[in-house]
Amino acid sequence: MIRSKNEKEIASMREAGALANAVLLDVAKSIAPGVTTREIDVYASECIQGYGAKSAFLGYRGYPCHTCISVNEEVVHGICGERGIQFGDIISLDVGVIYQGFIGDNALTVAAGGCDLSTQNLMDVTEHALHEGISKAVKGNRVVDISRAIQNHVESNGFTVVREFVGHGVGRKMHEEPQIPNFVDGSPSPKLKSGMTIAIEPMVNMGGPEVRVLADQWTVITKDRKPSAHFEHTILVTDGEPEILTCAIRTDLKTKALS
Ligand code: MF3
Ligand code: CO
Repeated sequence: MIRSKNEKEIASMREAGALANAVLLDVAKSIAPGVTTREIDVYASECIQGYGAKSAFLGYRGYPCHTCISVNEEVVHGICGERGIQFGDIISLDVGVIYQGFIGDNALTVAAGGCDLSTQNLMDVTEHALHEGISKAVKGNRVVDISRAIQNHVESNGFTVVREFVGHGVGRKMHEEPQIPNFVDGSPSPKLKSGMTIAIEPMVNMGGPEVRVLADQWTVITKDRKPSAHFEHTILVTDGEPEILTCAIRTDLKTKALS
């Protein structure tokens, strides 16, 4: 049974979502050639702390970093380390925060310095696929309507969607029901109800859809080592249009440094 959130819980999800996006955008700006992925993660931990929140990822099933930083052929769950970002790399940054008991989860992919046109197209198509998916997150639709919109947009642009990792319900826990696949799998699909909060997160490959997990047991890479992009928002299903909760353009958000 998938539970809808009440007004109080939704208010908290709005706070967590706004903070998660504020951190994501702050940290994205710190990505540049020459910076190591650990430096990015340390900066992220300072940002998260500055907003009075906590990383939702650190310690999750033993996950060792505050964020996920996945470079080029890395799809998701990249672990921070001494790898230096190079000009033309694309970096998928995934930020999840816990604030007053609720989780906001979001991700984006950016190029360091610049990138070639086909790589920019991969990022644009992935972000657009996310928005196609979000547009189907309305009361009365089924999860599969989101999945189909994402898959259609990706495949009609010549890219592929990852099957092994999917979006998810989110709230007090990072992974709640239902799963939100980025492809149509033919299994029974739950109906969307007002008050559901879900993370939609297409992972899109330039080459084939196959992935594997590195020996570190976290980092997911493409089998063909071609690049991959990842965009994610936490959204609220309402009686009308979907509401993007990971949306930080709010003047009332202040870090410790400002207040
Ligand atoms: N957005 C990712 C997810 O929903 C982040 C999880 S990273 C983990 O699965 F390390 F916390 F697992
Ligand atoms: Co997620």
